[in-house]
Amino acid sequence: MNAPRISVTPPGPKAKAILERDAQVLSPSYARDYGFVMDHGKGAEVWDVDGNRYIDFSAGIAVNSTGHSHPEIVKAIQTQAEKFIHISSDYYHDLMVRVAERIDEIAPMKEDVTVFLANSGTESVEAAIKLARYATGRRQFIGFLGAFHGRSMGSLSFTASKARQQERFFPTMPGVWHVPFPDPYRPVFPIPPGGDEGDAVIDYIENVLFPEALPPDEVAAILVEPIQGEGGYIVPPPNFFPRLRKLCDEHGILLIADEVQSGVGRTGKWWAIQHWGVEPDIVCIAKGIASGVPMGAMAARKSVGAKWKPGAHGNTYGGNPIACVSALKTLELIENGYMQNAAEMGAYMLDALAEMQARHPSIGQVRGRGLMIGAEFVKNQKTKEPARALRDRIVHGCFERGLLTLGCGRSTVRFMPALMIGKDLVDEGLEIFERVVMEVEKG
Ligand SMILES: Cc1ncc(COP(=O)(O)O)c(C=O)c1O
Repeated sequence: MNAPRISVTPPGPKAKAILERDAQVLSPSYARDYGFVMDHGKGAEVWDVDGNRYIDFSAGIAVNSTGHSHPEIVKAIQTQAEKFIHISSDYYHDLMVRVAERIDEIAPMKEDVTVFLANSGTESVEAAIKLARYATGRRQFIGFLGAFHGRSMGSLSFTASKARQQERFFPTMPGVWHVPFPDPYRPVFPIPPGGDEGDAVIDYIENVLFPEALPPDEVAAILVEPIQGEGGYIVPPPNFFPRLRKLCDEHGILLIADEVQSGVGRTGKWWAIQHWGVEPDIVCIAKGIASGVPMGAMAARKSVGAKWKPGAHGNTYGGNPIACVSALKTLELIENGYMQNAAEMGAYMLDALAEMQARHPSIGQVRGRGLMIGAEFVKNQKTKEPARALRDRIVHGCFERGLLTLGCGRSTVRFMPALMIGKDLVDEGLEIFERVVMEVEKG
């Protein structure tokens, strides 16, 4: 029999002491939803400094893809640390080449790719934006409302999921036009006969944006998350990506898939865009690729990526050997079972949540692919008015009972555990979740 998950109401005394010190010296810009103070983790479970044990449905925002401190990842890092920890991208080493070769093997395009190695999601997006401008000689871009692509000035110019992220930072990079993301639960445009919300958005770009406001031959690229992440775990309808690809081809526009959150096996395929059978020209990668060691990557079709001249773009840490060994081992583990597990556990979790939805009027919609699942809370099933305060109480309630979850969008709880999570922890986590939903619904 396991010990109870929560033995000290969190945040407990040791956690509180750290929260107080944190508030003195760390930037107040970090947005923390609750006071979880980590001590250690194992697989899909984590422990706080007061000895409480949690099921981790957040995986460090979809980063700990192989679970916390997977023994093979730990060993690979330790072995490499004894050899060398850094040399910089001014020099060469085999691990950097091997990571790029692996990305080339699994990238969602048939053409070979060139790979730029970075240290974070935002840096991989910056690289994509710069390459798109450089390779096309064009200046403008299209992005999506609700998108999140990072917080540095280039990626921030596309980010549109929370006003706080933009407040007092304007002007960001000019030339980014935002259009609605096709959300089947909350469509912005009327759906054309025989089409879906995806057609409606592409029609808007073609018939409203292009002829009147934006010359298509000035657009370098369209940057899009295959499944919108921070914006609410929104899965686009079937027609969207095929038509977006066609639109790009017609106008010589590059299609950049930001797979920072949705990629590397999380949705049961290497890349979420593969659920729609569409190939991007550039793919942005980070989060799950190296099990928590910071790494980002931007892979571009060779005919695009090879246009850069030496010195056009670079960094100091890209291709760091610790990150590289962690990425190589992570990709091996994902390929040899965890991606399949993500597909199976994801389908199981989606079914269980859909059943839960039938029992709880506050759950407006459950959606996702693989282990990228969102449950959106509403005040009323018919009006679909977002229930943000209720969602926040649920996220807090889960924390108090031993389950880590995070919100996204206006009123969605997201489920993005490690890809290795087993059925026992999924069941236990969902049980805690439903208990909290029941309590919060009662008020
Ligand atoms: C889709 C997407 N792109 C980019 C980023 C930025 O990544 P990072 O926080 O590593 O800069 C994120 C982070 O959440 C993301 O979800």
